[in-house]
Amino acid sequence: MITGFRSPRVVTFDPQISDASNPLGAVRDGCIAFENGRVSFIGNEVDYPESRSFPLVPLITPGLIDAHTHACWVGSRHDEYAIRMAGGDYRDIASRGGGIVASSRAIATATEHEIESTLLARLKRMSSLGVTTCEVKSGYGLLPELELKQLRAIANVAARRDAPSVVSTFLALHSVPAEYKSNRAEYISTVRDVTLPSAVGLAQFVDAYVDASAFTVDEARMIATLARSMGLGVRLHVGQFADVGGAELAADLGALSADHLEHVSARGIDALAASGTAACLLPVASFTLGQSPPPVATLREAGIAMVVASDANPGTAPTESLPLALALAVRLYGLTPEEALIGSTRNAARSLGLNDRGMLQIGARADVVAWDLVHEHALIQPWGTSKALTVVVEGVAIAGTSLS
Ligand code: NIG
Ligand code: FE
Repeated sequence: MITGFRSPRVVTFDPQISDASNPLGAVRDGCIAFENGRVSFIGNEVDYPESRSFPLVPLITPGLIDAHTHACWVGSRHDEYAIRMAGGDYRDIASRGGGIVASSRAIATATEHEIESTLLARLKRMSSLGVTTCEVKSGYGLLPELELKQLRAIANVAARRDAPSVVSTFLALHSVPAEYKSNRAEYISTVRDVTLPSAVGLAQFVDAYVDASAFTVDEARMIATLARSMGLGVRLHVGQFADVGGAELAADLGALSADHLEHVSARGIDALAASGTAACLLPVASFTLGQSPPPVATLREAGIAMVVASDANPGTAPTESLPLALALAVRLYGLTPEEALIGSTRNAARSLGLNDRGMLQIGARADVVAWDLVHEHALIQPWGTSKALTVVVEGVAIAGTSLS
C-alpha cells in the first residue's frame, strides 16, 4: 500500500538539494510517497500524478530525533525542583535525599511493567510533538538487577510499532548507588564484571557521566573501552559542571557524541573536531540549572556537528519536549534556526549511528511529520503545544490523524 502527503513545502534536509538560498533542501509544491516503510518518491507533485489522492498538509519535515534522554524514569522529583529554583545546589538536594539516587529508589520499588508502561506513555507524548526516534538511557537502576529491569523495559517499548523508534544506552556510570557509597571501586568492578556483560544485547550504546562529582576519566575509559569491545557505540556526558577532560576522552574513544559541554577547553574542542565527534547540546538542562551556554561559536568554527536534544529527565531537564529544547537552543545558545533543526534531524541521526533517517530521500525510512505550520522556522518558536498533525514512523502513523 502506498501512502503519502502533498504539501506546498516539503523540507528534505538533503544536502544534495540544499544551497545557500535553500539551506534545508525544501521542495515547493512537493509530495512524498511511502512504500513498505520507506520513502518511494519525493519531489514535485506534478512529477507524481498518483499524489492527487494524498492528503494536502501545510508543511512536511523528517521526524524529529531526540538523541539524549533519560526518559525511562518513574516517580517525581518536584521537591528537588523547588529547592533548585530557590537557589539550592546539588549538595542541598543530596542532603534531602534527592538527585539521581531518588530516581533509583523509585526504579527499585516499581515493577518492570510499571516502568515499561510509564516509558511508553511518555514516548507517545513525545511523539505527539513530532519525535519519531528517541534515545533512552538506563542509569536509574545502577545496581545490576535494576539496570537490567530498566533495559528490559526499554527493549519492550523498542519492540513496539505504535511509538517512536528507540535507541537504548547503558548508563550504569551515572551515580554511585547508596549500597556502594563507601566502596566506589567495588561499584565500578561490579559494572565491569556483572552489569555490562548482561546489558550487551539490550543496549546499543554505552554512556558515562564524566564530571567532577560523578565519574573520572579513568573510570569511564575503562568501562567504555570494554563496552566498545563488546560491540557498543560510545556517547558520553562531559563538562556539564566542570571540565575534567571528558571531551578529550570522548574523542579518544571515537565517541559518536559528547554531550552537555558547558565546560570544555580549547584542547577538548580540537580533539572533538579531529575525531568527528558530534557535540550534543542540552539547553533545557542549562536553563533549569541557570548555567551559561556551551561555547557554541567555537564549536561552530571548529566545524563540529551540533545536535540538540531534550535531556528529558526528572531532575535537571524535567521536560518531554524536544521542540522546547530547539526554542532554547536558538534563544539561549545562539544557534540559527537551521542549526537547531539540523541538530534534531540529520545530525541527531548520525550521532546515533542511524544512516537511514534524519533526512528525506528515496530509500530512507518513512519517518515523517506533517505540521500545522507553514514554515520550518516556526518549529523553533516556544509553542508549548503540539503543532504536529500526523507523525509517521516507518510509514505508520503513530500520533495525530491516521493516514487514509
Ligand atoms: O543529563 N548529568 C547527569 N545526568 C542528567 C541528570 C539526571 C538526573 O538528575 O536525574 C543530565 O542532566
Ligand atoms: Fe543527560
